[in-house]
Amino acid sequence: MELTENRLALHKVIDLGRRTRLRLRKYSLIAHLRGLWFARKLTHHGIVVVTGRYPAPTVLNRGGAIDVKNCEFYEGVRLEVYRGGMLTIGNGTYLNRNAVVIAVGNVDIGNDCRIGWDVVIMDSDLHPVDANDQPTESARVVIEDDVWIGCRSIILKGVRIGKRSVIAAGSIVTKDIPPNSIAAGVPARVISSNPERAEFFLKKIRSAPTSR
Ligand SMILES: CC(C)(COP(=O)(O)OP(=O)(O)OC[C@H]1O[C@@H](n2cnc3c(N)ncnc32)[C@H](O)[C@@H]1OP(=O)(O)O)[C@@H](O)C(=O)NCCC(=O)NCCS
Repeated sequence: MELTENRLALHKVIDLGRRTRLRLRKYSLIAHLRGLWFARKLTHHGIVVVTGRYPAPTVLNRGGAIDVKNCEFYEGVRLEVYRGGMLTIGNGTYLNRNAVVIAVGNVDIGNDCRIGWDVVIMDSDLHPVDANDQPTESARVVIEDDVWIGCRSIILKGVRIGKRSVIAAGSIVTKDIPPNSIAAGVPARVISSNPERAEFFLKKIRSAPTSR
């Protein structure tokens, strides 16, 4: 009995060593240490790595919660959460340089998403259009698994982007995008709904050096 337990413990140590070696082959020790420093401001987190140069990514938490799994952040990324707000980011997702996420209410980013540089994701307009109007309401933003958001796109309040969709560079997404779509433009419209095509782009991205 004791022998089996010892064996199990040994297997666990060996497995941890193997996983650590694989991780360090992909991301440097410095990236992990920078990740630890960044993660101290998150409510819950997995293994976070920070890559790229400076400025370091920042977190502005005004009294909400930020739950980040095993993710990669580039320089200049900014996560902003308001009182009572909740931001979740799934496993294997990366946010490229200067991406900004603002959660007044709820923003959920799924697993294996690729958020391009200078992308802005926000679940509220933050200010009413007319100064005499009531403060604006937030509306949940959901980005499902395996979504690629091209650089300089903006994702506005209340939007759900379906699994495996691609948002072309410079798009402004104001309405839901169904799964397996490629959407482009201002406002973003679906230009292709071919699952194979969406999968083709995601395969290309998966093999890129920055993907998990
Ligand atoms: C979405 C994307 C991958 C599509 O590539 P593609 O399939 O080769 O697209 P095509 O060049 O064949 O264009 C298909 C149509 O969509 C339009 N289109 C493509 N990208 C567009 C964009 N960003 N905005 C508006 N329309 C766009 C094209 O004009 C074309 O329209 P047409 O059929 O009327 O001529 C690519 O355009 C894109 O935006 N890549 C983002 C790259 C990026 O952000 N990289 C940074 C990663 S961090």
